[in-house]
Amino acid sequence: MGTVWIDSDMGFDDLAAVAMVVASGRAVAGLSLVAGNSPLPRVIANARAAAALFGWDFPLYGGACRPLIGPLITADYVLGDTGMPGGTALPDAPPGPDLPRMLPALIRFADNGGRDLLALGPLTNIAAFALARPDLARGMRLIWMGGAPGRGNHSAAAEFNAFVDPEAVQLVIDAGVTIRMVGLDPCRQVTVGLADAQALAARPGPHAPLLAGLLDGYCRIAADGQRPMALYDPVAAAALIAPDSVTFAPARLDCETTGRLTRGMTVIEWRAHKAAPNAQIATAADAPRIRALFMAGLAHAATGA
Ligand code: BDR
Ligand code: CA
Repeated sequence: MGTVWIDSDMGFDDLAAVAMVVASGRAVAGLSLVAGNSPLPRVIANARAAAALFGWDFPLYGGACRPLIGPLITADYVLGDTGMPGGTALPDAPPGPDLPRMLPALIRFADNGGRDLLALGPLTNIAAFALARPDLARGMRLIWMGGAPGRGNHSAAAEFNAFVDPEAVQLVIDAGVTIRMVGLDPCRQVTVGLADAQALAARPGPHAPLLAGLLDGYCRIAADGQRPMALYDPVAAAALIAPDSVTFAPARLDCETTGRLTRGMTVIEWRAHKAAPNAQIATAADAPRIRALFMAGLAHAATGA
């Protein structure tokens, strides 16, 4: 089990995904931050707060504050100013120096033989790495939560992470990175509800009430908790820490960058006789297993250990 590098825009489901990796015992080389769910300063503040609360002992790095092209689109319309569901604010982390930049550190990681990347947000940082060191990018194995083989969530056709930076997605594909894409369809198979937040509140640990409040707010994104809420980034984390919990199939993957209605749509050609596969696309998820890993990750974080 090699060391993994995580890249994230640190919403609540990102936080849970990182907690799952930590609880699994998988070594994390670094966590780079990228603008997406929120503007970069808020993403960094939330990552620092989470690291301080939950005892994350790996370094954090600052990354891109906007996509390769065009203005940043955030999920503030769902998450509000705190970047966390339900308007919950994480307690401020102790003050510290500015974070170091991610690019030299990610290059060092790859130069030293690191191969595994887990990306939980827009692919801007990974694209910057591929532009800087195409030789290293070709050897990387990326699990990415993003894309939508069918119905989108940010637009009719596009998933949020892909919509924020479609050029980065295509650049990473073209760089020859080995991609395992965990898109919306398998994630929609893995849902949580308000009862899970209540169960988490009853777990031991000083941070159980905070995490239960965040999960409650997350569940309320779907019709104020009256409909099950899909897990996104945690399903990608599960593909890393429990590889047989997510099923993949090979296909040709591209990302639409120019469509008026389809910008950010991930276009998947399943017919191998039409185009050689260049990615593995998640087609199914083991929902009970991943829900258990998700709850275990948050229960572990609740202890602050
Ligand atoms: C993705 O968008 C973000 O809001 C979530 O953190 C997840 O990475 C789901 O579309
Ligand atoms: Ca995310």
